[in-house]
Amino acid sequence: MTERVLILDFGSQVTQLIARRVRESGVYCEVHPFNKVDDAWLRDFAPKAIILSGGPASVTLADTPRAAPLVFELGVPVLGICYGEQTMVAQLGGTVETGTHREFGRAFLEVVKQCRLFDGVWAPGDREQVWMSHGDRVVSLPEGFEVVGTSDGAPYAAIADEARRFYGVQFHPEVVHTPDGAKLLRNFTHEIAGCKGDWTMAAFREQAIERIREQVGDGRVICGLSGGVDSSVAAVLLHEAIGDRLTCVFVDTGLLRAGEVDEVVGLFRGHFNIPLVHVDAGELFLGKLNGVTDPEVKRKTIGATFIDVFEAEAKKVGGADFLAQGTLYPDVIESVSFAGGPSVTIKSHHNVGGLPERMNMALVEPLRELFKDEVRRLGEELGLPQRFIGRHPFPGPGLAIRIPGEVTRDRVEILQRADAIYLEEIRNAGLYDAIWQAFAVLLPVRTVGVMGDERSYDYACALRAVTSTDGMTADYYPFDHGFLGRVATRIINEVRGINRVTYDITSKPPGTIEWE
Ligand code: XMP
Repeated sequence: MTERVLILDFGSQVTQLIARRVRESGVYCEVHPFNKVDDAWLRDFAPKAIILSGGPASVTLADTPRAAPLVFELGVPVLGICYGEQTMVAQLGGTVETGTHREFGRAFLEVVKQCRLFDGVWAPGDREQVWMSHGDRVVSLPEGFEVVGTSDGAPYAAIADEARRFYGVQFHPEVVHTPDGAKLLRNFTHEIAGCKGDWTMAAFREQAIERIREQVGDGRVICGLSGGVDSSVAAVLLHEAIGDRLTCVFVDTGLLRAGEVDEVVGLFRGHFNIPLVHVDAGELFLGKLNGVTDPEVKRKTIGATFIDVFEAEAKKVGGADFLAQGTLYPDVIESVSFAGGPSVTIKSHHNVGGLPERMNMALVEPLRELFKDEVRRLGEELGLPQRFIGRHPFPGPGLAIRIPGEVTRDRVEILQRADAIYLEEIRNAGLYDAIWQAFAVLLPVRTVGVMGDERSYDYACALRAVTSTDGMTADYYPFDHGFLGRVATRIINEVRGINRVTYDITSKPPGTIEWE
């Protein structure tokens, strides 16, 4: 069985980063909310080690989160980070107080004693940069622990009980602002917990194939392909597992980027020889969008039409028992929320939600344990071309949400041409991989210009490019003006219908990445 590490989540904003760091060192791990694990589950999970995350609560108050006592009785190493350290101390007999000296951001740790967590990384006497974010602090230690590092605001900034292999750090080793943090986590998983670090994409591929075969038995699977990386990787993996019991359906909504249809069809039919049902539904989608201008109505109309088309195609191929989806780990991790209450819908995202119930199918989600970059690595492992794997994310509703106002065939074509020029220039400048997502938006605004000796009265177009790690927050990309000028000139000269180009410099929040 794969060695695995358990990360108990106490609600920190950066818990996912702990998982990232652990996996980067070749150790498989999972994040679970502290209050969702009971003793039977813990024993069954059989972690090689446990990491307690940070969190926003205070252990000095009653009714705040605690780790299940069994965590400290399984005989496996435990590392408490920030709140995780504090709850470990409190639960094992030490004390935590609300500090007068709060530490947020960069701080320095004095290493006062050698311990296995620091082996080969830090030595006594070193002063090391770490990242802190805490108000409470440990003031007395449980039996068996000793101080191995201190900081101005936290006299017990790093503690160790080498006999029980329990460690606690007040700082966050998982963030990049603790430059040696990844090495400390690696010491914990590899040296202290004895993990071999042999979790590779090749190993994942084998395991995932086994699991798909087990789940699907001799059933049939249908997979909606969007042309994006996730659904493509899922489809190739499924094909390897169950061969022609997989049917891929690619719905061309008429709202895709220029050249996208040929690229997807070519990849699946030509490169992988995977049977693909290609549905040309552009007319249908444009018809349904006729007169629709409200962004949410647009999204819902597209989602519903997609389901209709997909369902009809699925019936034609004789139906299926399972629906494959490219769900990723960030969507699966159930974060601990202390705020409570329902969150507002900013935009209703569309994948194939609604379908499984309507068609009475079970879900197959072979990527649900992976982060986006891991999916890309799996794609490489499966032989998908680099150009395909590295593609920017593209939303389900496609270009429709990049055309504020009514979506017409003309407008889609104008936008496709502008977008293609923009992306070509970005690739030529060698910037494609430095950008999370770049696209053009066709504005429902016409402005006056002068082309040659003629007056023009055409659409304005906005260019968008952002950097991001997960799409949740984003910064606009700081192109130099020469580049922007070049793109604008090309678009205005080459795309009939656009006579003005602007660059969107809104970050997220307060903006969103897409315009609708
Ligand atoms: P926003 O605009 O919400 O977008 O900042 C965040 C990321 O999600 C993508 N996006 C979607 N992806 N279906 C998708 O599959 C959707 O309905 C959808 N809407 C937005 C967006 O392109 C960006 O990467």
